[in-house]
Amino acid sequence: MFNGQSQVNEIKRYGDPVWEKISQTQRWGQYPEIVNFYLGVKNGFENENPNVKFTPTVLDIGSGGGANAWFMKKEGANLILFDGQPEFFIQVRDTFQKFFVPYDGARELLGDITNPIGGKHLNGCIDILIDNYSLVHNAKENIIRAYEQYYQLMQPESRSIFYTATFGQKTELKDRGFTAKFTREELNGIFGKIGYKIIRTIDRQIMENTCGKEKVNTVELEQLITILGRA
Ligand SMILES: C[S@@+](CC[C@H](N)C(=O)[O-])C[C@H]1O[C@@H](n2cnc3c(N)ncnc32)[C@H](O)[C@@H]1O
Repeated sequence: MFNGQSQVNEIKRYGDPVWEKISQTQRWGQYPEIVNFYLGVKNGFENENPNVKFTPTVLDIGSGGGANAWFMKKEGANLILFDGQPEFFIQVRDTFQKFFVPYDGARELLGDITNPIGGKHLNGCIDILIDNYSLVHNAKENIIRAYEQYYQLMQPESRSIFYTATFGQKTELKDRGFTAKFTREELNGIFGKIGYKIIRTIDRQIMENTCGKEKVNTVELEQLITILGRA
């Protein structure tokens, strides 16, 4: 006779028993978060439009050394790198070379990421806007101006992802200069007033010394990751 419980008990397992619990409670890895987001938008569109190959125009806002850019280019992005430090473009080119990704067609834009339209850096339609810890290192009023201008670059199907520090006590990211802080209510108000449609938010808490990548020098930094569309 079928017995669900005994069936489960009869499953063979191999290796240290500790992996049984880990396999049931933990999950990690996949691609970096930004790449997951990019692939989700691109593949989602192609699933809904099976005969269309989507080459999204992606704006990497504060592209830095190209940590995410090389992967998105490899996965078919029409890439715009936007940063204020010319040396970072040299790093990006080096990263592409290292991973054998053709750099041809990637557009380098040197300018102020908080003033993309006013600074006459951009005026086109962008399909995917990525801000991975870049705008947050600017004055609040400039970040708000940036959100307003990036909205103008979006089309109804465009998607953007913004990382914002929300609150915390004396939370400066180590070696990252100034970090602006918002409350959630403030942010929701700002996005809503501009006209963004909030598609999803992800909360993240970063504790000192628990995350090797983003250490803060006090208790914790809270971040709100917001995925937005154009209403
Ligand atoms: C923490 S790094 C993030 C780099 C990249 N997004 C990543 O995920 O690795 C911040 C980047 O934003 C750029 N940035 C910050 N404020 C800027 C501004 N107002 N204008 C131009 N670039 C800016 C910096 O030069 C730097 O490359």
